[in-house]
This record gives sequence, C-alpha cells and structure tokens, in this order.
Amino acid sequence: MNTSLFDLSGKVAVVSGAAQGMGRAMATALAEHGADLLLVDLNGPGVERTAAALSEMGRRAIFEARDVSKPEQVRAIFHRLDSEFGRIDFLGNVAGESIMARPEDISLEDVEQVWRNLVLGRFCACQEAGRRMLAGSGGSIVNIGSLASITALGRGHIAYSMAMGAVAQMTRELSTEWARGGVRVNAILPAQVVNPGLEKRMAEKPALRDQWLSGIPAGRLGMPDDIRGLAVFLASDSSKWITGALIPMDGGNLAMNAGGSVR
Ligand SMILES: NC(=O)c1ccc[n+]([C@@H]2O[C@H](COP(=O)([O-])OP(=O)(O)OC[C@H]3O[C@@H](n4cnc5c(N)ncnc54)[C@H](O)[C@@H]3O)[C@@H](O)[C@H]2O)c1
Repeated sequence: MNTSLFDLSGKVAVVSGAAQGMGRAMATALAEHGADLLLVDLNGPGVERTAAALSEMGRRAIFEARDVSKPEQVRAIFHRLDSEFGRIDFLGNVAGESIMARPEDISLEDVEQVWRNLVLGRFCACQEAGRRMLAGSGGSIVNIGSLASITALGRGHIAYSMAMGAVAQMTRELSTEWARGGVRVNAILPAQVVNPGLEKRMAEKPALRDQWLSGIPAGRLGMPDDIRGLAVFLASDSSKWITGALIPMDGGNLAMNAGGSVR
C-alpha cells in the first residue's frame, strides 16, 4: 500500500481525451498512483488501447467512446460511472478541439462548435461530477485551459481564446460555489505541448517552432508527460487546500508575458 501524499488507491477518476496526448498521460499517471478509471474519447480504438494498458497495470479501467461536446453523451458517461463504480473522486476535462480562423472570417457556426467542444462539454461534465461529489465525500476537478485562458494569442485563435477564457471563469466560479462542499476545481494552462495537430502545423510552417520556442524560457516545447505530476498532485490530498487556481504548465511563458504574437 502506497502511503505517500500522492496515494490515489481507492479513488475513481474520469478522464476525457484519454486516447492520446495529455489525457492519456494524465490517466496513466493517476493509474500508476492507484486510481481506477473511466476513460472517454471520440477515438474508440485509441481509448480502448489506453484502457487495456491501464488494466495490465492492475487497475480497473473501462472506457466510453463518446463526444464530450454533446451533453446527452456526457450524461451517458456518468450513468455508466454510476453503474460500474458508484462514486467519483476526480474529473479531468481534457478533450476538446478548436477551429482556427481569423476573427473577420470565422463563421458563427464554428464559434458555436468550439464553445460546445471546450465550454459546454467541460461544464456539463463538471456539473455531473460536481453533483455526485457534493452528495458524496467531495472530490477534485481539473479543467484543461490554455495560455489563451488569460492572454491573447493572435494567429486565428479567436474562437479558442474566447472559449478558454470561459474555462478560466468556469473554474473560478465553480471553485467558489463548491469549496464548502469539499469539491475543488482547478485549471491547468499549458503552452505548446507537442501533439499531432502541432506537428502538422510545424511541418507546414517550420518557422512556427522557433516562434513558439522564443516564448518559452525553458527552451523546449511541452510534452504530454509534463502533465503527469500536476495531475497526480491535484487529484491527491496533497493539494487539499488548493482550489480555484489557474496553474501554468508552460516552461515560463506566461511569466514573461510571451503568449501573444500578431504574426
Ligand atoms: N497541445 C497543446 O499545445 C495545448 C495547449 C493548451 C491547451 N491544450 C488543450 O488541451 C487539450 C488536450 O490537448 P492534447 O494536446 O492532449 O490533444 P490531442 O489532440 O493530443 O488529444 C486530444 C484527444 O481528445 C479527443 N477528443 C477531441 N475532441 C473530442 C470530443 N469532442 N469528445 C471526446 N474526445 C475528443 C481526441 O480524439 C484525442 O484523443 C485540448 O482541449 C487542447 O485544446 C492543448
């Protein structure tokens, strides 16, 4: 039995975006510290692979191939949670994509879809998890935000930035409302973390890598595994007096106010 400050044994976590990237890294780190998991992703085969890997570690890991931008699908995830585990201690809201376009060009349909992906989906999952945590023994929620939660990025990020700004305020409001009920709500704000989308953009425009690196004092782009420590810390009792925090995971980007670039 792991008796450390970071022990998660006996806890149940729901993590979205768990087929790859930061969602998979978060889920794996939680499992390594003892949590059982319900994993969610649009990518059925991918999330099934993550669940199989965590099961091999001796954890109970089940999955749902669902779209978190659709409230009825989010609710179905929590019905499965109720029947399989009957409790929730941690929610990691990681999944959700953006659509990039200049403010003068973007359609309102695309703005609305990004809002569904990143705001409505995260809020619906927070609401479902929060209701259960408030009625149970509390819990911890982590919303993935972005540098764009608190600084402008330019370069066609208008819909993303508006949505991620809302994620920051969602986190602060929920932490304020639910702290007395033992439910903590925090956000992680990553800078550029390598994923297939970023790799494609760097392949199309090689100067982007240097542009991003010029804003990262630590001298490298993020990797999905950079989220592991924060995820375990925020899920565990070692962070029990931390709520409403927007925590940069950015190699120092926000400290030097380097998020934006008009090019
Ligand atoms: N990578 C970065 O540089 C970066 C920086 C700041 C914030 N973020 C945010 O962090 C989150 C995860 O980023 P990542 O780099 O791990 O992404 P990724 O592209 O590596 O993985 C995202 C996963 O989410 C799944 N997904 C996407 N939309 C979904 C939906 N509607 N329902 C269910 N699953 C869905 C995908 O299938 C994929 O498996 C995203 O919300 C992203 O906007 C990323």
